Amino acid sequence: MTAAERAALAVLHRLDPELSHDLALRALRSGLAPSPGQVTSNRLRTRVFGRDFPNPVGTAAGFDKNAIAVRQTLKTGFGFAEVGAVTPRPQPGNPKPRLFRLPADQAIINRFGFNNHGLEAMQARLVALGQPVGINLGANKDSEDRAADYVAGVAALSPYALFFTVNVSSPNTANLRNLQVGDALSDLLGRVMDARAQTAERPPVLIKIAPDLSDAELAKIAEISVAHRLDGIVATNTTIQRDGLTCRNAGEAGGLSGAPLRARSLQVLRLLYRETAGEMPLIGVGGIASAEDAYARIRAGASLVQLYTALIYRGISLGAEIARGLDDLLRRDGVARVADAVGTDQPIKA
Ligand code: FNR
Repeated sequence: MTAAERAALAVLHRLDPELSHDLALRALRSGLAPSPGQVTSNRLRTRVFGRDFPNPVGTAAGFDKNAIAVRQTLKTGFGFAEVGAVTPRPQPGNPKPRLFRLPADQAIINRFGFNNHGLEAMQARLVALGQPVGINLGANKDSEDRAADYVAGVAALSPYALFFTVNVSSPNTANLRNLQVGDALSDLLGRVMDARAQTAERPPVLIKIAPDLSDAELAKIAEISVAHRLDGIVATNTTIQRDGLTCRNAGEAGGLSGAPLRARSLQVLRLLYRETAGEMPLIGVGGIASAEDAYARIRAGASLVQLYTALIYRGISLGAEIARGLDDLLRRDGVARVADAVGTDQPIKA
């Protein structure tokens, strides 16, 4: 972290957390963040679900819900960005306050509830951006056919998608997580993949899952994802668990992210890698705050990693720091390309 970044964070953390995040994004958009440019090397460059990434470290969904600072985010050294969640119609989300810091736990609780500007505004921003980006798709709170909302997202935004993430794991929209289970999931993925087949670009489609599922439920999701020929799984979203927290805000409702999520997200990723026999690309997210964390996630089976909460405590330059640190770790271990490290912790038997 630079001295200027440390000073800026000290000021921001005295403000209301949501206001603070909005200001930080605006500052980023205005070019006020350190921007060393792309971080890349032969070791870090990677090709996943047919897409090229300068390095495997990205921003997670929710960081830039309305895609206002993508270009500047990438200039800070991230290998990719995921915007959204976007829902077909704009919606205000839950009443404020709805974002809470837990500094001693290095964690955040949010209950935003998919506040966003909607598909039309997103489309205009992505046209202006002029380069493909990961797009997190959600459903409107009052939608009668939620699967249709994801289909609408795919239909409207395919030309701009580096990949789509079908987010059925936010804890902040009532009953959304039911879409992760059994017939509802099969129906949803069937419709989304049909919609994708009708687009000219055929962008990769991933599903993002909750860490609060049982091993049997996770195995079922892996099986259904493979059956529908999805391009990948993002593990994990925030948790509704509250174990081991020390901060006053621990009792707030919503999804918990950051350090307390790290162990469970890693465990879920491992299980998915085994269940998909290493054949489905996985994105590891949840509590990643260092190059060592990112490397551990990759060795457990992640082809790409993402982070959000650690940026709140350590600043946007953490992305570049992790990417460079990962390059050093790969060099130390004699790994020529990051893809060669994926899943090396748990070799899949032929
Ligand atoms: C999120 N996350 C999230 N995920 C998603 O799929 N769609 C979304 O709209 C959001 N929104 C969101 C807002 C806020 C304030 C936070 C903190 C998180 C979840 C996020 O992408 C990620 O999966 C988790 O936060 C775990 O990663 P970290 O934060 O521990 O690195």
